Amino acid sequence: MNCIVDSKDFEMIRKIAFETWPVAYGEIVTQEQLDYMLEKIYNITSLQHQQENLGHRFILAVDENNTAIGFASFSTYENQTNHHRLHKLYVLPNQQQKGIGKLLLEAIYSEIRKNGAGSIELNVNRFNNALAFYQKLGYEILKEEDIDIGEGFFMNDYILFKKVQ
Ligand SMILES: CC(C)(COP(=O)(O)OP(=O)(O)OC[C@H]1O[C@@H](n2cnc3c(N)ncnc32)[C@H](O)[C@@H]1OP(=O)(O)O)[C@@H](O)C(=O)NCCC(=O)NCCS
Repeated sequence: MNCIVDSKDFEMIRKIAFETWPVAYGEIVTQEQLDYMLEKIYNITSLQHQQENLGHRFILAVDENNTAIGFASFSTYENQTNHHRLHKLYVLPNQQQKGIGKLLLEAIYSEIRKNGAGSIELNVNRFNNALAFYQKLGYEILKEEDIDIGEGFFMNDYILFKKVQ
């Protein structure tokens, strides 16, 4: 397994998202909300905008055959020098529990450490199994947040935080 930092392979990122989201969120949000969010966040123009205008850095995990199996994205947070936000972390359903999620986070921590000690925070749905994954890896709950994402849809999240040293 290997991580490609600053990937521009948005077709592959979109493909992984469309395979992963229905499994991850199928029982948490309605099909209508799932379709709305996937198309809004993962159309190629939107992904390019996130990278070029919002400063999101995409990391792609590939296996030994160079096949993409997961991705993450992160950026600095509100102009703070070394505080970051994790925007996305998704591993294909049939590739989960093999250390790939952890590997993607480690690749991000390596980038953060280039500027010294820092920190990272993220939003996770309060009903998502991934909460236990983050807690196992040392993330702490900062607070709850209910976000209006438009069209009458809401995300019911926790904000999680971790120091990166
Ligand atoms: C959450 C996710 C990214 C984790 O990635 P992964 O590759 O499956 O996890 P890893 O194999 O790297 O797991 C690392 C450690 O966390 C543990 N872990 C993984 N998923 C877990 C879970 N749901 N609950 C508790 N522990 C979990 C693993 O057992 C492993 O422990 P170890 O280091 O003692 O062996 C992945 O399952 C995923 O893509 N889920 C669906 C999408 C999603 O919800 N993403 C998060 C959006 S905020």
